[in-house]
Amino acid sequence: MNHLIAPSILAADFANLQRDIEMINNSDGDWIHVDIMDGMFVPNISFGFPVVSAVKKHAKKDLDVHLMIVDPDRYLKAFKDAGAASITVHYEACPNLHRTVQYIKELGCRASVAVNPHTPVLLLEDIVADLDMVLIMSVNPGFGGQKFIPNTYKKLADIKELAARKNPGLYIEVDGGVDGSNAAKLVEAGATVLVAGNSVFSALNPVQAIADLKSSGL
Ligand code: DX5
Ligand code: ZN
Repeated sequence: MNHLIAPSILAADFANLQRDIEMINNSDGDWIHVDIMDGMFVPNISFGFPVVSAVKKHAKKDLDVHLMIVDPDRYLKAFKDAGAASITVHYEACPNLHRTVQYIKELGCRASVAVNPHTPVLLLEDIVADLDMVLIMSVNPGFGGQKFIPNTYKKLADIKELAARKNPGLYIEVDGGVDGSNAAKLVEAGATVLVAGNSVFSALNPVQAIADLKSSGL
């Protein structure tokens, strides 16, 4: 399977969000990555439901919603109703992760779990068979434009091995500091979805930046 690209609108121009969504619609981007931050699980606040619904209105690609919030169960249905196709919750934010994952699936969304840089992938051993996707954080969540953490490659090897044993169809997404310098190596290491914020939106030609990420490692 060719890897997917999910441009992150955290790095978009919020005063020109429709323009930036249309740019993604007309690019090789596969999903639109939507970062939700609550100022509690992470030290930053991004945006909420009205913005997600507005994005959905113009999006021709699936919304890949990444919840960096405490107790996400409270809001899963609201994000589904706002247009999410995938919902990612954090391992570190979910004491009853199995229940949370079942609920996301009952809502009809792809169910995904993110792990922070310090969280071993092997903690997903008993849940990975229930998941559609695992998101490996390659920076500490909370901000765009941070430096990629190289231990991500080791984590990709771990999740690739776990997926081969328990869930061969699993999407493996990498999020944070992804750009032209590491994309090919990430795909080679097992990433099947690359999230990219700054490397797309700060490029002179964002459509070309997405195309370059899409052809990385092929
Ligand atoms: C970080 C977010 C990322 C962010 C990535 O907490 O989860 O999705 O938008 O931004 P870049 O690609 O700029 O590191
Ligand atoms: Zn994200």
